[in-house]
Amino acid sequence: MSKILVTGGTGYIGSHTVVELLESGYETVVVDNLSNSTAGVINGIEGITGIRPVFVKADCTDKNAIHKILKTERNVMGIIHFAASKSVGESLSKPLTYYRNNIDSLLTLLELMPEFNVKGLVFSSSCTVYGRPDLMPVGEDAPVKKAESPYGNTKQIGEEIIRDAIGSDVSYKSIILRYFNPIGAHPSAKIGELPNGVPQNLVPFLTQTAAGIHKELRVFGDDYSTPDGSCIRDYINVVDLAKAHVTAIGRMLENSDCKPLEYYNLGTGKGFSVLELIHTFENVTGVKVPYKIAGRRVGDIEQIWADPRRANEILGWKAVETLENTLRSAWKWQQAISNL
Ligand code: UD1
Repeated sequence: MSKILVTGGTGYIGSHTVVELLESGYETVVVDNLSNSTAGVINGIEGITGIRPVFVKADCTDKNAIHKILKTERNVMGIIHFAASKSVGESLSKPLTYYRNNIDSLLTLLELMPEFNVKGLVFSSSCTVYGRPDLMPVGEDAPVKKAESPYGNTKQIGEEIIRDAIGSDVSYKSIILRYFNPIGAHPSAKIGELPNGVPQNLVPFLTQTAAGIHKELRVFGDDYSTPDGSCIRDYINVVDLAKAHVTAIGRMLENSDCKPLEYYNLGTGKGFSVLELIHTFENVTGVKVPYKIAGRRVGDIEQIWADPRRANEILGWKAVETLENTLRSAWKWQQAISNL
């Protein structure tokens, strides 16, 4: 089976994807600079799959280091590029760090791919490229709006760089995956999301609040034009999301129908409000989550959910996990890390 380089492979989505790749028979080489994860994640991956993936600590902006890895490993057929800084808020205070990390790493990989005959790159993008969409659900042809943060801009610029590279008739292909809101953890609770410091995203903050780490969760706004006034998002199970990468890599490397550049939305096609998510969590876990209504968070959009039909039809992939099970997995993971 093909060998796949997974950058950011000890991170949240990366580690779940490495598991799915290994379970589908791929060989993986995990590269991560451990800036927002730990090498211990490799133990979790081994605990689930029984396979210890090759792991190299390296920064993808370091072209010499990546050159060395591709040379040593030989026959890397595809790259899945997760390695990136991902906090919207932090990107506003450290824009240059975000541009350096997210753009330089992508350039490094794209520049090295032809030399090592790597056939394709899967790129982690985000629904954030759609900004405040005019129509719901959001399909891939919806216009890309002006980015609201340096983080979002790095995803847009990354997509443009890939588009221009492919347009120059390079030897490789690319699939751009636009994620909606990934949540939950592997059902084994051996891997999951490990945020550095206080989490900014809803579900890790919620599970930490349920575990008593925070006094209360703030619901950012209940005066939006939605049925209960809180924002609506398309929450996708991280294992479902990981599986889409395996399907994408398979299509890119083995299916001649795959165009040089393809875009897919990865979401469930269903939106849930913040309040619905909190109450669903309480129902399935039996744990009360203290929360209060707070003001709107700057930069939040009112509602967004995916039209995932292209991924359903062309990739043959569909999100199958329920919100209930996904929230159960997030809680099981929180309990596992609280007991460490
Ligand atoms: C955003 C970006 C996404 C990016 C992600 C990474 C958009 C549409 N999405 O997701 O591309 O990858 O950040 O950080 O720009 N909330 C609370 N209380 C909290 C935390 C969150 O009420 O303590 C609410 C937010 O207002 C939002 C929802 O929960 O309505 C989800 O928030 P979050 O998990 O931070 O993700 P997004 O902001 O949707």
